[in-house]
Amino acid sequence: MTAPQAPTERIVTGNHPDRINFTEMYVTHDSFRRDLRRLAAAVGAGRAADPRVRDGWRNFKRQLHVHHTVEDAWLWPRLKGLVADRPDDLALLAAMEAEHAVLDPRLASVDAALDGAAPGLPAEVAELTRVLEQHLRHEEEDALPLIQSVMTPADWRGFARAMARTQGPRGAAVWVPWITDGMTPADARRFLDRLPAPLRVLNRLVWQSRYRGRQLFAH
Ligand SMILES: [Fe+2]
Repeated sequence: MTAPQAPTERIVTGNHPDRINFTEMYVTHDSFRRDLRRLAAAVGAGRAADPRVRDGWRNFKRQLHVHHTVEDAWLWPRLKGLVADRPDDLALLAAMEAEHAVLDPRLASVDAALDGAAPGLPAEVAELTRVLEQHLRHEEEDALPLIQSVMTPADWRGFARAMARTQGPRGAAVWVPWITDGMTPADARRFLDRLPAPLRVLNRLVWQSRYRGRQLFAH
């Protein structure tokens, strides 16, 4: 088991040499939460068929798929190797994988309800929100402290590289403005300051306006 961690600021500028900075993990989780709030609002307002709402939902699914694919393929296997003699920690990692698997049928149920093939769209969105929130909190409260205690900042950079490889350049062009969508200007600045300068410039000149033009979730 790991010692409880003090409350963490979610966007932390700068990198400590000995501590992993989880900013990118937190802001990604918060973007999933924001998207599901917007989906629920759109559904509640009778705008589920709006192509911009559909586009927002497709993008949400893609971001979630990339995030969980890299966690399942890169992060949990490496952690398992680091805690191989610690049954409680292995159980936690098994729970992370199981919670990812439980999300797939929830996504499919929202898809079916959106397509009109199944009733109860608001209830399906609420259930997906409940299941995802439970998973994100479990990961933030238990898995991130475990990662902090057994991995190094260099290990974590390997995870970030795996995420960037899976996203690819076209993925980054969406991920960066998707993350800052709805942030206060001060938070957006603190997040963007963590990016390599060329990506910040690309985001300001190209990615941001292209993303805004899509008006995801008709927001
Ligand atoms: Fe995560």
